[in-house]
Amino acid sequence: MKINLRDPKKIMKLSKLGCFHQSKLSFLRSFLKEFKTWKYNRDLFDLDENGFGRAVYSFSKNKRIYSLICFANKIDDKERSDRVIATKWDAAFTLHDGIPSKNDLDRLSENVPKQEGSPERKENVNWSFRTFNKEKKKLDMSLPSDHSIKKEVVLKNLIKNQNNDFIAWIGHATFLIKLGDTTIITDPVFSRNAGPLFFGPKRYVDPALNLNELPKIDLFLLTHNHYDHLDIKTIRKFPFKDAKVLTALKLGKYFTNNRFKNVKELDWYDEVKINDLKITFLPAVHWSKRSLTDTNKTLWGNFLIEYKGKKIFFACDTGYGEVYKKLGKDYGPIDLTMINIGAYDFRPMFEKSIYHTTPEEALEVAKDLKSKKVLGTHWGTFVLSLEPILEPPKRFKRNAKSFGFNEDDALIFKIGQIENLNYILK
Ligand SMILES: [Fe+2]
Repeated sequence: MKINLRDPKKIMKLSKLGCFHQSKLSFLRSFLKEFKTWKYNRDLFDLDENGFGRAVYSFSKNKRIYSLICFANKIDDKERSDRVIATKWDAAFTLHDGIPSKNDLDRLSENVPKQEGSPERKENVNWSFRTFNKEKKKLDMSLPSDHSIKKEVVLKNLIKNQNNDFIAWIGHATFLIKLGDTTIITDPVFSRNAGPLFFGPKRYVDPALNLNELPKIDLFLLTHNHYDHLDIKTIRKFPFKDAKVLTALKLGKYFTNNRFKNVKELDWYDEVKINDLKITFLPAVHWSKRSLTDTNKTLWGNFLIEYKGKKIFFACDTGYGEVYKKLGKDYGPIDLTMINIGAYDFRPMFEKSIYHTTPEEALEVAKDLKSKKVLGTHWGTFVLSLEPILEPPKRFKRNAKSFGFNEDDALIFKIGQIENLNYILK
């Protein structure tokens, strides 16, 4: 199929992937603009059995007909359809050769990854700060002495590993990943608390290094805007403003306003090459919010890092979703998946977060991604939920086998631990 689009690679990707989402609206617009030169045939709207809307726009050129099909939940919700970033990732578009029959539509509907993005919060979720703070006080906050590694040892190990490829845990979702000439930092949070000003949960463990002790950082990856990931004080004081920044749509301003020069916002499925790395931004089952009025107005996502034939998947905070089976099919097998294992239990308010995997769900995601190894992240630093603070790694290790991993392949680091990548990926 030949379509003269500005970016023919993208259209190939579109037809290969089968569908894309509302965040692609700008692309969709240029796509439709192109179609304007074609003869517009007809459109049709119906609902499948699940109330999932389907709109079909058919166009013809040189006696060939193509149809652009939009699948959407609540397609008539005006407030939502006006937003570039959807509050709920409920629309997908696919290109079909010819006019689709009802059977074609039913078949295509089934393939729409309905769980991609941000699932709607269940009605029985009763969040209460008061209950949360009351329950939080009941948590046993004692830590084993080796929960984090002594600063002098971390600094020594950093020097020892300076010529190696390695992964180091600074705390929570902050990691250093050195791959050849590129040193990456992920979701760096060096502040005392994860919240605006002095609000928000306080860290109960110091970061393994201070900002001024970091090695030179070349690439800054930011998955989303929650306070335990996007720390504005860290961005402001970050010592390497010439680092390349890759982040989600609409988050670039936090960097450009703070003297970063090389900032790129990514949409899902966007790919970027940096040195000898290829980075792909992929959907995660999560959400975004930093203020009372900005829910889901900025994007979130996972990073896939490819380097010398190896694949590292750095998960944004994510819940479990069917989308991981699809990502596993399209991007797997993954050599190492780094994924959140903490911040899931919210009893007695509600059973569990749908935006954070339990240790078992994290293993399930890693399995769906066909991962050889999986490293548990996002625990042991802040109290964001009500599970015992040391429960995530225990459950993660204990249940690894039932998801097809050897206990040794389900990795847990100590804060400050630096591991040679050859050793991890052996
Ligand atoms: Fe988050």
